[in-house]
Amino acid sequence: MENVTIKFEDSSDIELPVVEGTEKERGIDITELRSETGYITLDPGYGNTGSCESSITYLNGEKGVLRYRGIPIEQLAEKSNFIEVADLLINGELPSKERRGRFAALLTDNALLHENLKHHFEGFPWNSHPMAMLSAMVNALSCYYPVLTLTHRLQDLEMAAAILISQIRTIAAFSYKMTRGEPFIYPIPKHTYSENLLHMMFSLPHEHYEVHDDIKHAVDRILILHADHEQNCSTSTVRMVASSGANLFAAISAGISALWGPLHGGANQAVVEMLLKIHKGKLDVKKCIEMAKDKDSNFRLMGFGHRVYKNFDPRAQILKGLAVKVFDVLKKTDPLVEIARELEGIALNDPYFVERNLYPNVDFYSGIILRAIGVPKNMFPVFFAIGRLPGWIAHWHEVADNIHSRIDRPRQIYTGYTERPYVPIEKRS
Ligand code: SDX
Repeated sequence: MENVTIKFEDSSDIELPVVEGTEKERGIDITELRSETGYITLDPGYGNTGSCESSITYLNGEKGVLRYRGIPIEQLAEKSNFIEVADLLINGELPSKERRGRFAALLTDNALLHENLKHHFEGFPWNSHPMAMLSAMVNALSCYYPVLTLTHRLQDLEMAAAILISQIRTIAAFSYKMTRGEPFIYPIPKHTYSENLLHMMFSLPHEHYEVHDDIKHAVDRILILHADHEQNCSTSTVRMVASSGANLFAAISAGISALWGPLHGGANQAVVEMLLKIHKGKLDVKKCIEMAKDKDSNFRLMGFGHRVYKNFDPRAQILKGLAVKVFDVLKKTDPLVEIARELEGIALNDPYFVERNLYPNVDFYSGIILRAIGVPKNMFPVFFAIGRLPGWIAHWHEVADNIHSRIDRPRQIYTGYTERPYVPIEKRS
């Protein structure tokens, strides 16, 4: 691969190697830049900066391509299931029948929280946000599996992954029950992963919640579509925590916190809150689009735009179709759907959005589907976290298992005071 040359005003120059990925994307390796020239690069938001080389997920924002370990998301959404996709992301290959059965059994055997963990929920106020509880409880979980906080060897990783993937679902359901003052409902071993999530949320001691096959299937697709997305904010957080040598549970807890932000995984909740505001306020949709274009208004069209996708988000396209199916199965209508469609129709033809490549992203429709199923909006980011967990585990392992990994420690351009003396308090103004 050829080098690139950077020329400096003092006529010195430096040659830097070019690296090329398996999909022919190229990067300039600046590892030696500072030691050779004293310069660093500056890239707020890392829009042009590769933090690592990774073999887990490939996405092409210009072409709307998303593949987990080389397999297109459209094929996985149509033919696979969430637990098989989790295994694919973590281990790199689609599991054999034997391995798939073993991993599923590990999830079933590890679905229950240690009974002492249940008391932690009593310490949260009834109106706590479930993402706060999820992040706290995942770290608390590590106290019950100390041996797994030290591991990055693959065979232990399978057990750690099974415990986390199975129990994040139980923690999520128990968090929901706690906010409603309802008794915790335990998983049923013969249920599938998504079926048990809805069962533990919506069943009552005296009334079993029957999960409709199409709804179980829809939730499983939602989790598949959220399972990984290369170096997004929360995954980069998990990788950064992993780079310090911190354990898997600590890294996942940090990832949950990063995902919670409304510009990231909290956007699905923000989308429905935006649609509810328009519906309840009987706001004019066209005026809302104008507000979204007005920098002085604090109104942003949530669920629109993406740092990487510049034509369409392939996940949003699949979710849009899933929404139609879910509403058809549930024989429901929701005024928010019509508002969403109207917003999308206007925005996709408005030069402001077209020029800035702003299209519906994964969060635009996911919340509407979960709302139709009866999931409250503060649980939407929790469903995102449950889906993203296998990707986070795979990325943590890619860092922890790499003997060449270094601790992440970015540089900065300092813009504060130059040197100045300490001033005793009596001399301060
Ligand atoms: C996720 O990275 C991932 O992969 C994330 C994710 C994953 O799977 O992990 O895909 C999940 O987080 C999806 C994104 C969910 N967030 C939202 O829906 C929130 C609304 N969207 C925006 O806040 C924004 O589009 C981001 C955060 C998604 C992307 O932000 P960028 O890349 O930093 O873009 P920007 O803020 O620099 O915007 C560029 C321009 C600006 O206008 P100008 O200064 O050029 O005039 O586009 C405008 C922005 O004002 N803009 C929007 C807008 N998003 C960007 N204007 C109105 N409404 C919006 N939604």
